[in-house]
Amino acid sequence: MSDDLKRRAAEAAMAEVRSGMRIGLGTGSTAKHFVDLLGAEVARGFECLCVPTSEVTATQAHGLGIPLTTLEEIDGLDVTIDGADEIDSNFQLIKGGGGALLREKIVAAASDRMVVIADESKLVETLGRFALPIEVNPFGLAATDKAIGRVMADFRAEGGKVLRKQGDGATYLTDGGHYIIDASFGRISNAEALSQALLEIPGVVQHGLFIDLCSEAYLATPEGTIKLSEHVKS
Ligand code: A5P
Repeated sequence: MSDDLKRRAAEAAMAEVRSGMRIGLGTGSTAKHFVDLLGAEVARGFECLCVPTSEVTATQAHGLGIPLTTLEEIDGLDVTIDGADEIDSNFQLIKGGGGALLREKIVAAASDRMVVIADESKLVETLGRFALPIEVNPFGLAATDKAIGRVMADFRAEGGKVLRKQGDGATYLTDGGHYIIDASFGRISNAEALSQALLEIPGVVQHGLFIDLCSEAYLATPEGTIKLSEHVKS
């Protein structure tokens, strides 16, 4: 059911793309549906130039014949369509459950608009139930981990943190060759201040709080897909 909702959100977001656009392609199980749908359109003659947010998405898009480029070759994107782990009513997001948060944030920031696609379970009153992914440099991991612990205490985190592992037990490595620490806050009441505090830690490469990047979202419910837009937010 949930995968069906994800696909419906992706279908609705096809309304955001026009032939000739430069499009950022997100990562994750919801974005995967969007890439599939876009690939089908490309096969029918739809023209676009896309920047993928991960190697996984690049491989999928390449296999579907979607023309790919890089942010070195073009100076910006019209829109990025991506999933999210949490979205609140102010369009603040937690991302990075799939490990692609750094490239996702770079691509979203280079886009005129970022549109989130998700099933309704991702809409939350307050961010933080989903553990916040924090991408860190492997060098000095212990020092960075301690510093993140201090920030968690300052922000009254309700849970602990864990170095992300992959299925075989090895430490998870991002496309950029970094590690991820998943930090359970429980409730993030000041996302902007937390973002600043984390970015002040030298070993933190980036974190999964997306603030002022997303302005629209398609949320699929069993009753239909709702479009939320920042200019009509409550
Ligand atoms: C990838 O790093 C993430 O930011 C995903 O966009 C996010 O985890 C949502 O993934 P799903 O669409 O698979 O829930």
